[in-house]
Order: sequence, then C-alpha cells, then structure tokens
Amino acid sequence: MDVTKMEKVHIMTHPLIKHKITMLRMDTTVTNDFRSLVEEITILMGYEALADLKTTEMEIKTPIEDTVQPVIDGKKLAIVPILRAGLGMVNGMLELVPLAKVGHIGMYRDEETHLPHPYYCKLPPMIDRRLIVVVDPMLATGGSLIDAVNEIKAQGGKDIKCMCIIAAPEGVEAFTKVHPDVELYIGCLDRCLNSNAYICPGLGDAGDRIFGTK
Ligand code: PRP
Ligand code: URA
Repeated sequence: MDVTKMEKVHIMTHPLIKHKITMLRMDTTVTNDFRSLVEEITILMGYEALADLKTTEMEIKTPIEDTVQPVIDGKKLAIVPILRAGLGMVNGMLELVPLAKVGHIGMYRDEETHLPHPYYCKLPPMIDRRLIVVVDPMLATGGSLIDAVNEIKAQGGKDIKCMCIIAAPEGVEAFTKVHPDVELYIGCLDRCLNSNAYICPGLGDAGDRIFGTK
C-alpha cells in the first residue's frame, strides 16, 4: 500500500521542517537542542495541520475605525500528548493556540511485545465539541496512536487530527486501517521498522532523548 497517496495522510514538504528533522535525528544532538527542535518542528507542522481551523468574528477598533475581523476559536481546541514523548510537542502547539485545553494519555510500549500499555487518561471537558490534536513524535507500529484515538473516541471525541514528527509506513498503514476518518500529519515518512520495532533511520527513543533518561 502506498501510504503517501492516502487522502487523510499529509506528509510535510517544507524545507525548514526537513532540515530541523535531520538535526533532530543526529546522535550528537544533545537533550536541550533536541527539545528545542521538537518544539520548533511542532510549530511548523502545527501551522500546516491547523490550516482549516475555524474562526469566529470579533468586533474590534483599529486606530481608524470599528471593524469585524476573524479570530481563532481557541477554546474549542484540545491538544492531547501521548506520554511521555508527546509532552515535548505541547508547548509548540500552545505557542500557536494559547487558549487550547490540554489532555493527557499515558501509554508505554512493552519492550518485548511492542504492544502499548495504557496507564493514564484525562481529557478536557466537552471533548465531543472540540477539535482534538493528538501529538506524539513517533509513529512506529501504530499501536500507541491507535489505542490513544480509540480512547478519545470512546470518550466522545469526533473531530480528531494526529501529528507525528517521524512515522514508519507500517504504522501509518495500521493506523489508517483502524481510523480512516482521522487526519494524520507526518513530518517525515521513514523507510521501515527494525526487528525491535524501532523506526529506521528514525532518531532512537524519542522519550529518552527529550527527557535525558538514557
Ligand atoms: C514511543 C513513542 C510512541 C510509541 C510509538 O513511546 O513516543 O508513543 O513509542 O510506538 P508504536 O507506534 O509502536 O506504538 P514509548 O512507548 O517509548 O514511551 P515513552 O514516550 O514514555 O518513552
Ligand atoms: N518509539 C520511539 O521513541 N522510537 C522508535 O523508533 C519507535 C518507537
């Protein structure tokens, strides 16, 4: 299956995103630079992912006259990071939409089976009325993102977008099979998974690199 041709799969083409993802991958990139790059890439990807964001009209005064102009309806947005690594993308999204609410989904991948284990979920109220943006830097087998979106849908979420900085084709295919209605924004589509279900060439363990735990 050619995942690049899928209607709901959006792969970033901007050279700034490509450049910053290359810097992110390098094994010489230290923790604080890694965190800054994740935030910068999130802002650039978020700009693309939120291109169809709803606006409402607001009455304002310019120095010249009264006027009615569009503003983002930020209160209706929820950002949902998948813990831990997704936390690295929250501030970037909040730079774009400071009024968004933030939910959290805790999930870790078993090292042997590679299956996700959920351990926490707290979503903002009225989740059924919000645009929900799920953020996680890595989409490998797809198990974690599939389960996270399952949980959001089970709690009433309908309007869902996902943002991942690096994805494997296997994960994209698995995800779109289960959630064909969800828009998926990917910074870079990598080659494949290795025998440990790590993305190749990838960047290693995103959570460990963001939090300096290895
Ligand atoms: C990583 C990553 C994703 C998941 C992707 O998290 O941040 O959540 O793996 O793998 P998958 O697509 O095969 O499910 P990890 O489980 O390592 O937890 P961490 O963020 O706490 O390090
Ligand atoms: N999780 C990561 O952090 N990196 C991978 O390559 C796969 C899963």
